[in-house]
Amino acid sequence: MLYKRTHMCGELRLADEGKEVILNGWVAKARSLGGLVFVDLRDKTGITQITFNEDVPETVLEQAKSLRSEYCIGVKGVVKERSSKNSNIPTGEIEVFADDLVIYSKSETPPIYIKDDDNVDDNLRLKYRYLDLRKNKMQRNLSVRHRVVKCARDYFDEQGFTEVETPMLIKPTPEGARDYIVPSRVHNGSFYALPQSPQMFKQLLMVAGTDRYFQIVKCFRDEDLRADRQPEFTQIDLEMSFAGVDDVIAIQEGFIKKVMKEVKGIDVVTPFPRLTYAEAMERYGSDKPDTRFDIELMKLNDVFAGCGFEVFTKTLAEGGDIRGICVPGGASEFSRKKIDKLVDEVKHYGAKGLVWIKHEASGISSSVGKFFTDDELKTVLDKCGASEGDIVFIVSGTSKVTYDSLGFLRRKVAGLLGLLDDEQFNFLWVVDFPMFEQDEDGNIKAMHHPFTQPKLDELEKLDSDILGLRANAYDIVLNGVELGGGSVRIHDKDLQARMFKALGLTDEECEEKFGFLIEAFKYGAPPHAGLAYGLDRLVMLLLGEKSIREVIAFPKNQNAECPVCEAPAPAGEGQLEELGIELVPDAE
Ligand code: AMO
Repeated sequence: MLYKRTHMCGELRLADEGKEVILNGWVAKARSLGGLVFVDLRDKTGITQITFNEDVPETVLEQAKSLRSEYCIGVKGVVKERSSKNSNIPTGEIEVFADDLVIYSKSETPPIYIKDDDNVDDNLRLKYRYLDLRKNKMQRNLSVRHRVVKCARDYFDEQGFTEVETPMLIKPTPEGARDYIVPSRVHNGSFYALPQSPQMFKQLLMVAGTDRYFQIVKCFRDEDLRADRQPEFTQIDLEMSFAGVDDVIAIQEGFIKKVMKEVKGIDVVTPFPRLTYAEAMERYGSDKPDTRFDIELMKLNDVFAGCGFEVFTKTLAEGGDIRGICVPGGASEFSRKKIDKLVDEVKHYGAKGLVWIKHEASGISSSVGKFFTDDELKTVLDKCGASEGDIVFIVSGTSKVTYDSLGFLRRKVAGLLGLLDDEQFNFLWVVDFPMFEQDEDGNIKAMHHPFTQPKLDELEKLDSDILGLRANAYDIVLNGVELGGGSVRIHDKDLQARMFKALGLTDEECEEKFGFLIEAFKYGAPPHAGLAYGLDRLVMLLLGEKSIREVIAFPKNQNAECPVCEAPAPAGEGQLEELGIELVPDAE
């Protein structure tokens, strides 16, 4: 028997009093008190209290007494005002007095407790994800994700974009992570790569005259997992012909405005602030600055030039930098013990140490107090804008070390001081990224990807100052998270060849990797530009979640495994043979 429901479990209000209703759902809680049974009935919209009393037929009451957590049931009854109201839930003013019950299926004792604020082990949550997803919070997350996707489809459709699917079995793309590869049965010894992004295909679509393309698309990158990184994730990917930086930015600001209004009910102000990469690094030590709080980096080379503290003078002599941040009100907040923890953390960013100066009512104190007079320390405090009650943290080293350490530290202390408000949404653009960067081995690589257009009036730097050459590349940043990135593309095959050469690629390597794109550019490529958002990150931030796993139905765990289906797993019998693959036994 299947009850046709009249309402969802989160819907009924006092105004529905007296209505005869039918609800379907799962037992979130069942309590038996003599002749009374109270059941919290849950579906994806919320919870309604059901009451069975002695007015119901004996058999129904007996059945109600047998109910246990997670039984799937249907209930018929009448809505009544509750005598003891529960202001914590939207249905808390009513209860349904049941007169009939059907048990669709029983449940064993669930291995995880299904409660929004339950702190179960993450792996257990992921293994029993279908139970974890029964939580109202998780269903809300999936539904917000759906609304963001719908909003994207509606908006880009209105703006003349066509959604086009691009292939999943391709040749490697140049996004810079490791590929997931798939062996070919038909071509033994050859492999497909799963796309790290649709980058080259969307550019081909521009050559094809699609004009404005978008796609909600799965991307695959074999890289270390973090809170905002998954091996498979989803992009809102787009590309526009006859467009430059300002055109892309204007379209995207329209999209963000719509999402924020429809999903959060917030009117965001556009245009968003734009920072150059150089300015973002100098002020925030990061190319994805969190501007929700007012702590900025300060260069202190001048103040410490010729000082008596050898660590600093040596850094300066070696061409390094000294930078600091002032944390307002931090002097009493950061005890020696807390500072020691911060010291350990900044070491991950290459800092050899962390100098501090406190300005308290009792006077000035510092970790390097014996190397400086109070007057000298006061000069540093003044330069950093510190007043009584504040603490200044200082790092010396290469520019990169000072940026990375203090960029991390400013956000860390802001978190400790409770300055990170999840309901404040600071969108901004970082523009004018460097075209190239140097990896640890000294090799030059593209900072975004090799199809990014360099600033055409700086091209002479290709030969004289390659790391100084800037690109028409931009990132959209929200609250310290890189939400999306893109660029104007090269559409001229000769310039593209120069860029490949600068990256140290031989003609053969170019042909092998990107031959089809170079070939396409021979046939009238339009000027074009684009961008891709990380959908998971956008939804995570809209919901104030700390990890993208909370907004993905079936995410991978820390070891890139799917705890539900237990992938990856050995290939089935005969599969490897068919693929012409022989496994080398573990060297151990
Ligand atoms: P990019 O590599 O910057 O650009 O990626 C775009 C956005 O995708 C998200 N993202 C991720 N999200 C979750 N897990 C990951 N492992 C992950 N990696 C990236 C980020 C990022 O900003 N083809 C270019 C776009 C373009 O130039 O148009 C590209 O993929 O939010």
